[in-house]
Amino acid sequence: MKTTALFLSLLLGGSTLLGLGMPQDQEPLGEDELREHMESIEDAVKRLRRSLRDPANLAESLELVARMQSDALVCKGLVPPLADTLPEAERAAFCAAFRRMMVDFLGAQLELEAALLDGDAEKADAAFARVRDFEDTGHERFTLEEDE
Ligand code: HEM
Repeated sequence: MKTTALFLSLLLGGSTLLGLGMPQDQEPLGEDELREHMESIEDAVKRLRRSLRDPANLAESLELVARMQSDALVCKGLVPPLADTLPEAERAAFCAAFRRMMVDFLGAQLELEAALLDGDAEKADAAFARVRDFEDTGHERFTLEEDE
């Protein structure tokens, strides 16, 4: 275990020294990770908008929903960049509220999956609309920029 940890820190530290890692003023890894998974969610939503139009695309829609769920699950465990700008005393409540909304976001995605598996197009459309509404609600409360 210790050898693996040492190897990893040498690898990461070494790449930074070689200029391949993060420059001093770049953000912590978790923030980039959150944005990457958010971008992946955005991509899945765009594709779903098309695939959900036709029941013949069921397999593709189910795959996209599953991908969105795993991205959201990772996001749920990360800290939004805005947290770093808040007073220490407010951070824990902010992170808990973020996690709570992620739980609801995932809930809407599970409803979408259930509707697809049940072959209920009407319910699937309603659940997808709820999933999409989370973008504005979530970003209003938890992002640095309102229009991100
Ligand atoms: C369909 C739903 C959603 C979509 C399509 C979406 C999409 C995105 C995109 C494209 C970004 C920008 C990534 C980048 O900077 O490269 C982002 C960032 C972010 N999103 Fe979402 N998002 C969704 C839902 C949510 C929800 C529900 C929350 C909160 C509970 C949330 C919180 C955030 C946060 C904290 C960031 C980081 C922004 C920052 O730099 O401050 N998002 N999202």
